[in-house]
Amino acid sequence: MKKFFLTLTLLCGSLGLFADEGMWLPSLIGERIDDMRAKGFELTAEDIYSVNQAALKDAIVLFGRGCTGELVSAEGLLFTNHHCGYGQIQAHSSVEHDYLTNGFWAMSRAEELPNPGLTVSFLVKMEDVTSRVEAGEKIEKIAKEAEEGGKYSASVESLYYNNKYYLFVYQVYRDIRLVGAPPSSIGKFGGDTDNWMWPRHTGDFTVFRIYADKDNNPADYSPENVPYTPKRHFAISTKGAAEGDFTFVYGFPGSTREYVTSDFIDYTLNHSNPAKIHLRTIRLDIIAEAQSKDVATRIMYASKHASIANAWKKWQGESLGLARRATVAKKQAYEAEFEQWAAGTEYEGVLPVLHTKYAELLPYAITRDYYNEAIYAIELMGLASTKKLYAEDVEPHYKDYSPAIDRLIAVEMLREFGENVAPEFVPEWYTQKLAECGSVEAFVEWLFGSSRITSATDLKEARLAGYDFESDPAKAMLNAFNALYTEKIAPHYTSLNKEITELYKNYMRGQMAHQSERTFYPDANLTLRVAYGSVAGYEAADGIYHKPYTTLDGIIEKDNPEIYDYDIPQSLRDLYASKEYGRWGVEMNGHYTVPVAFLAKNHTTGGNSGSPIINGKGELLGINFDRTWLSTMSDLDYDPDICRNISVDIRYVLFVIDKIGGAGYLLDEMTIN
Ligand code: ARG
Ligand code: GLU
Repeated sequence: MKKFFLTLTLLCGSLGLFADEGMWLPSLIGERIDDMRAKGFELTAEDIYSVNQAALKDAIVLFGRGCTGELVSAEGLLFTNHHCGYGQIQAHSSVEHDYLTNGFWAMSRAEELPNPGLTVSFLVKMEDVTSRVEAGEKIEKIAKEAEEGGKYSASVESLYYNNKYYLFVYQVYRDIRLVGAPPSSIGKFGGDTDNWMWPRHTGDFTVFRIYADKDNNPADYSPENVPYTPKRHFAISTKGAAEGDFTFVYGFPGSTREYVTSDFIDYTLNHSNPAKIHLRTIRLDIIAEAQSKDVATRIMYASKHASIANAWKKWQGESLGLARRATVAKKQAYEAEFEQWAAGTEYEGVLPVLHTKYAELLPYAITRDYYNEAIYAIELMGLASTKKLYAEDVEPHYKDYSPAIDRLIAVEMLREFGENVAPEFVPEWYTQKLAECGSVEAFVEWLFGSSRITSATDLKEARLAGYDFESDPAKAMLNAFNALYTEKIAPHYTSLNKEITELYKNYMRGQMAHQSERTFYPDANLTLRVAYGSVAGYEAADGIYHKPYTTLDGIIEKDNPEIYDYDIPQSLRDLYASKEYGRWGVEMNGHYTVPVAFLAKNHTTGGNSGSPIINGKGELLGINFDRTWLSTMSDLDYDPDICRNISVDIRYVLFVIDKIGGAGYLLDEMTIN
C-alpha cells in the first residue's frame, strides 16, 4: 500500500504543476511568460504589469469589496457583472422604477446614477517587502508610509503562510455611477437554477462609469466631477475565440487553500459544508415561499436570496467534487509520504502537530459555523448590533426587512442551534428564557413581540419615549450570544488558528522543499492575479461532452414565460424572430446566431466575478462570472480535466446594450476591433 502511494505521489511530483492551474502574481509574470507565449500569448510581461508605463493592470479595478471590473473606454466606462452591481441596481429600484425587472439605461451622462459608498481600486504597484518584515519593521508602518499621507490606500499581505510579504498600493475612486444594466431576465437569466452550471445563458454584466475631479484624482460624488481618464483601457475583440485558443483572466480572486492538510478538507466535507448547507436550505425555503406570494417581497429579498443561495449551491458542488476526487484520502497519502521524507529534517513532526491542533479546533470551528449560519442569520441580531439604531436615519436598515420572514427563520434556526450545539456553548440567558417560554416558538413570539426594533416606526416611537435600547430583548439576546462567543469560542478559535498558521509556515516550506521541481503559486487573497488557459469544453459525465459555447438559440430553448428564471423580455424574442442581429450575428453550431457564453480552463474563484477574459493580443473577449458546479472544489483541489470558468461573450454584452438597451451610443466610446 505504502509503496503504491509513494510511486503515485512521486509521479505527480515529477509532472510539476498541472497545466492551467495557478493564479500568478502580475509582478512576477516574467517567470511564466515563456509558458504563456508558448500557449498563444502575443504580448510581453511589461504589457501585463509595469510600474514605469501604462499596462493592462491599469485597466483593471477591484470593484467594491469583492468583485473585479475593467475599463473599456478612455472616458472611464467600466464593465463588471450584473451580480456585482446587483446591490446598486436594487438600491435604485422601487415598485415604480423596477430596474431589476426592466433594466436601466442612462441615455446621457446626466442620467447616470451615483452610488454612495461604492468604490473602485486601481493597483498602483506591488512590492516584495519580506526582508523588511523579517528585519522587524511593522507591516502597519510599511503600509502607512506607502499611503503618502492619504494619496493612496495600502496594505501588506502575507503569501505562502507568512513566508512572503507583499505591499499593495491602491488608488481608490469614490464617485462611481451606474450607466446601464440589462433586465434581470437577461442579467440573471437562469437565476439560481442555472447558477454554477453549464450550459449557461446569463448576460451577467453591468456598466458603470468612474468619475474624478478635474485633475483626474479621486473625489467624493459631485456634479462638478468629470469622467475619469484611465491610463489604459481594453480594446474589444468581436472575433471570439475557438476551442483551444489561448485566454487569460486578470482580476482579484478572493480565497483559495490549495496547500492545506487532509484535516481541513475533512472538516469542510464532513462537518462544515453539510451543516451550513442544511441551515441555508431552511432559510431559502422560507424566503422563497414568501417571495412567491408577493411582488414587493420578491424585490425586497431578491439580493439576500441570491447571496444566500450562491454559497449554498457552491458548497454542494464543492462537496461533490471533493468526494469524487477523494481529496481527503489523496492528501492523507501525500502526508504519509511527506512524513517519511521529513524524518530528520526541520519539517519532521510538523504534520502530527497540525493534526492534533485541527482536532482541538473542531468543536470551536463547528460551533462558530452554527453561530454564523444560525444565530447571526436571524436578521434581528444584525439590526440589534447596528450602532445607528440610536442615530437619526434608521429607515435604510429596514428597507429590505420583513419581520414576518425573520420570525419564521428565527424559529427554525434556534431549533437547529439547540439540537446541534453542545450545551456549554449555549448562553445561560437563552437557556433560562427558553425554559420560561416553554418552547422555541413561544420564545420567538416573546422576542419579536416585545422588541422595539423590529420596525423603523416602532423604533422611532420608542426613541421619542426615551426607551432604553440596551434592555431591548433583541439586544439582550445578541449580548448573551456575543458574550458567550467572545468568552468561550473566540479565544480558542483564534489562538488555535494562530498556532495552525505558524505550523503552516513550516509545512508550506516543507512542501516546497519536498517537491522542489514543482512551481507553487500563492493562494488567492483578493490581490491581483493572472490565470491563463484555453477555451475548452469538458466531459461532464460518461458519454456527455459539454461544448464550450452557448448561443442565443439556447436562450430561446429555455424561454418560458411561466418560469420566473427563464422568462425573457419580449424584445429578445422579437430579435430572435427577425434575426436582426446586426454586427453581432455569427455563423455558429451550423446556424446564424449570437454567441452568449463560453468555457475556458482559467483557474478562478470568487472575486474573479467581473474579471476581463482576454485573448493573446490583450483584447477583451468576455467577462468572467462563474465556474461550473463540478469545478467549485478547485479552491481546495484543482482538476485540470474538469475545472472551467464561465464568461459572458463580449459580443452578447454589446448586442444587449445595442439592441435591447437601445444604448448603442455607448459603443462609440469603446475601441471595437
Ligand atoms: N456563482 C456566481 C458567483 O459566485 C454568480 C452568483 C450570482 N448569481 C446568482 N444566481 N446568485 O458569484
Ligand atoms: N461568481 C463568482 C464571483 O464572485 C465567480 C465565480 C467563482 O467563484 O469562480 O465572484
